[in-house]
Amino acid sequence: MQKESCDIGLIGLAVMGQNLVLNMNDHGYRVAVFNRTVSKVDDFIQNEAAGTQVVGAHSIEELVAALKRPRRVMLMVKAGETVDQMIEHLLPHLEKGDIIIDGGNSHFPDTNRRTKDLAEKGILFIGTGVSGGEEGARFGPSIMPGGNPAAWPHVKEIFQSIAAKVEDGSPCCDWVGENGAGHYVKMIHNGIEYGDMQLICEAYDLLRAGLGLSADELHEVFAEWNKGELDSYLIEITSEIFAKRDEDGAPMVDKILDAAGQKGTGKWTGVNSLELGVPVTLIGEAVYARCLSAMKDERVAASKILTGPKHSAAQDRAEFIEDVRRALYCSKMISYAQGYMLMREAAKDQGWKLNFGGIALMWRGGCIIRSRFLGKIKEAFDKNPQLTNLLLDDFFSRTLNEYQASWRRAIIKAIEYGVPTPAFSTALSFFDGYRAERLPANLLQAQRDFFGAHTYERVDKPRGEFFHTNWTGRGGRVSSGTYNV
Ligand code: 6PG
Repeated sequence: MQKESCDIGLIGLAVMGQNLVLNMNDHGYRVAVFNRTVSKVDDFIQNEAAGTQVVGAHSIEELVAALKRPRRVMLMVKAGETVDQMIEHLLPHLEKGDIIIDGGNSHFPDTNRRTKDLAEKGILFIGTGVSGGEEGARFGPSIMPGGNPAAWPHVKEIFQSIAAKVEDGSPCCDWVGENGAGHYVKMIHNGIEYGDMQLICEAYDLLRAGLGLSADELHEVFAEWNKGELDSYLIEITSEIFAKRDEDGAPMVDKILDAAGQKGTGKWTGVNSLELGVPVTLIGEAVYARCLSAMKDERVAASKILTGPKHSAAQDRAEFIEDVRRALYCSKMISYAQGYMLMREAAKDQGWKLNFGGIALMWRGGCIIRSRFLGKIKEAFDKNPQLTNLLLDDFFSRTLNEYQASWRRAIIKAIEYGVPTPAFSTALSFFDGYRAERLPANLLQAQRDFFGAHTYERVDKPRGEFFHTNWTGRGGRVSSGTYNV
């Protein structure tokens, strides 16, 4: 192998790693590859990478020796300890100014830590989200890099050339921000992915319960939806899923056990929303819905004891389908608005300058949540980069105001049918809460003050002045502090 001849090194030849390598090769980059199970390197070179200029290395030392300086090494290994171990193995072979890129689904606090630790050693670290699954990685993923800004000029060209492009040719990849910002934005992407998937599942469940639609009919409905406002990768693959048959001719979807898995990024989003005090309720419900689905045995036992309502079919087929479609679209708007609320708060908390329109553009193509709808989010931030909440943008508020009757009808039907729609319902509750000038939290404050002298503010006094009432006549004169978490 010729020394210092390769543009970039990649470690980790699982599905995403292999496809990224082939994508880089297609774009004229010479890639050196290494994998912990070394036999996989030869296997890859002899098969998938046969006829390319990809170079196989049998040790980290060999990989590093093959790279031009400053060296760029991308890790596509399992998030967590494996990333730290790989970095440890790499360090003795690198020199100041070299670049390590972590392209896995790492938790952003880990990326914060790694960027800082490596900067102290003179190594420039990038933590990047890569979305789009196998096909995206091969032909154009969405890439969300963050970390040490000094590293960006060294990888910008490679990343932007292999990334997906939108209609006008802009790449779905740009610098997100310092430290863990790239992985943070990828985490939010995944949380939103969980929400979108749950919304589609609820629509499916409702259409089945209300109209008894067959898999073929569901295929038609989703294919139709994909031609309009809901046009997106996830709606498209859903319609394809309904068309797929098992070997015996039965719909494949009916053969799959209803117990969902998850790798943790949705949960991280939910936990982070609680930590930052942002009501990202839809993603939370989407994570819980997966948890409930996984309790299969318990649900089967409960189904024999707990009964639901008896109901008749929906009256008007076309109207019901349209109500469900609108419920999905409105709920999706709420979910993205919540995701953006969380990103705004995280940016403040972490000191990141996130470009919200730019993030919508990065998600517009290549990734799992890519959709026509993201173009609307981009437009909203282009119109007003300071927009406090997406729901306040003209397009969003108009659509919600116009569609909400359908959205409410769909949820009423779900309640009548006994079909669980946690994501549709929480979205509507959020909408009704967010647009409420007055919520019942006055009573809540009274309760807190009653049992714990926690004090309250008054409607007839300026904000920031706190009062306590001796509700029972038995309380003392001391009230508790007024701090908020
Ligand atoms: C992507 C996906 C991907 C994610 C899987 C699995 O953007 O390509 O978000 O990164 O890891 O979809 O996620 P779960 O196993 O948690 O569903």
